[in-house]
Amino acid sequence: MSLPIAPVIGTPLSPHATKVMLLGSGELGKEVLIALQRLGVETIGVDRYDHAPGHQVAHHARTITMSDPAQLKSLIDKEKPQLVVPEIEAIATPMLEALEAAGSVRVVPTARAARLTMDREGIRRLAAETLGLATSPYVFCDSLAELQAAIDSKIGYPCIVKPVMSSSGKGQSKIAGPADVKTAWDYAMAGGRVAGGRVIVEGFIDFDYEITQLTVRALGADGKVETHFCEPIGHVQVSGDYVESWQPHPMREAALHTSRAIAKAVADNLGTGLDGKPAGLGVFGVELFVKGDEVWFSEVSPRPHDTGMVTMCTQVQTQFELHARAILGLPVNTALKTPGASAVIYGGVDATGIVFDGVAEALRVPNSDIRLFGKPESLVKRRMGVALAFDADVEVARRNAKKAAALVKPRAAG
Ligand SMILES: Nc1ncnc2c1ncn2[C@@H]1O[C@H](COP(=O)(O)OP(=O)(O)O)[C@@H](O)[C@H]1O
Ligand SMILES: [Mg+2]
Repeated sequence: MSLPIAPVIGTPLSPHATKVMLLGSGELGKEVLIALQRLGVETIGVDRYDHAPGHQVAHHARTITMSDPAQLKSLIDKEKPQLVVPEIEAIATPMLEALEAAGSVRVVPTARAARLTMDREGIRRLAAETLGLATSPYVFCDSLAELQAAIDSKIGYPCIVKPVMSSSGKGQSKIAGPADVKTAWDYAMAGGRVAGGRVIVEGFIDFDYEITQLTVRALGADGKVETHFCEPIGHVQVSGDYVESWQPHPMREAALHTSRAIAKAVADNLGTGLDGKPAGLGVFGVELFVKGDEVWFSEVSPRPHDTGMVTMCTQVQTQFELHARAILGLPVNTALKTPGASAVIYGGVDATGIVFDGVAEALRVPNSDIRLFGKPESLVKRRMGVALAFDADVEVARRNAKKAAALVKPRAAG
């Protein structure tokens, strides 16, 4: 197979710039933008609101409604990036498919992957029905009556309900018994990205632990796609939202082997475009549930993963650098440098232009670091930053990351 793009880098802001557009410029996009800039790429950060984290570091900041196909097309036509890199799910992906098919742009890893992962249905059906991977039992429902019928006939209790269009646990809840069904339905309707949405109800998997298997498709010296694996990342989720992660997560050989086989099957498929060419490159965050040697596929981000922020203190190349390098056709190194951990810093207040106390105290925690994302508006449960800590003992790293996170105190200004 030929190179998807020639790995030649131009000069930013010149006629020979290598231009990359990030669709979504949150905390993950911001780090991808920084990694691209370090490689001399001209960057365009796009988000739905002004002064998003990635806007603050990109060469060009653009604000549009990315789910509107006309706005998306007109921006891509105007900026003419060689690569379009989705960072979020809520994008007019059929338009990306049309532009990719017309040869106007390359989408990372493929426009098809962006479309299949934009809601829970495309990717779940692909994993379970096309690839035959183990997943939780599931049914898609469009009404409370359908939800109740699915639980009664197939799923049982306990189970989990999620809007098909949602992320970070929004609209997601666990149903313990019949009394919770209506509450869960109403919660899903209020929390989905689109009104009147569909939900997935999943049987509850009583796993021992869950991991993110970061998987990278990058070009080898012969121009062929190679698959690389990072060390597994363990994480804790509260109400469907990540609160801490660490790397490596100790795993038995068989479970690790199965996890990587599943991750490769998913990445291989999503790395294949509509034209059937397996040319899709970049990082995939494959979420897996593990019990003993049994592994279930949960979901995948065809891009860096929030739990993978830990790689900013653990890997030779962070997941953002891996993504930047892989998508440009450059080689990658997924080696671990040291065990480490990350812990989320939440806003804790609903306010704009907040200030953070305790930053110096947090940075006095041994081997710690923090990232403050610079989001203009804080919400009690919005992720505003992350604390990182490394240590030869991953449990010490976890304690220190949590300690550092707790020392940072966001508050309303004034
Ligand atoms: N079927 C399930 N069984 C047990 N836990 C689940 C199940 N589905 C989700 N969870 C828990 O909720 C978290 C978030 O769910 P996920 O499907 O990853 O949603 P999101 O797209 O919002 O990240 C998971 O990481 C896991 O901890
Ligand atoms: Mg998830």
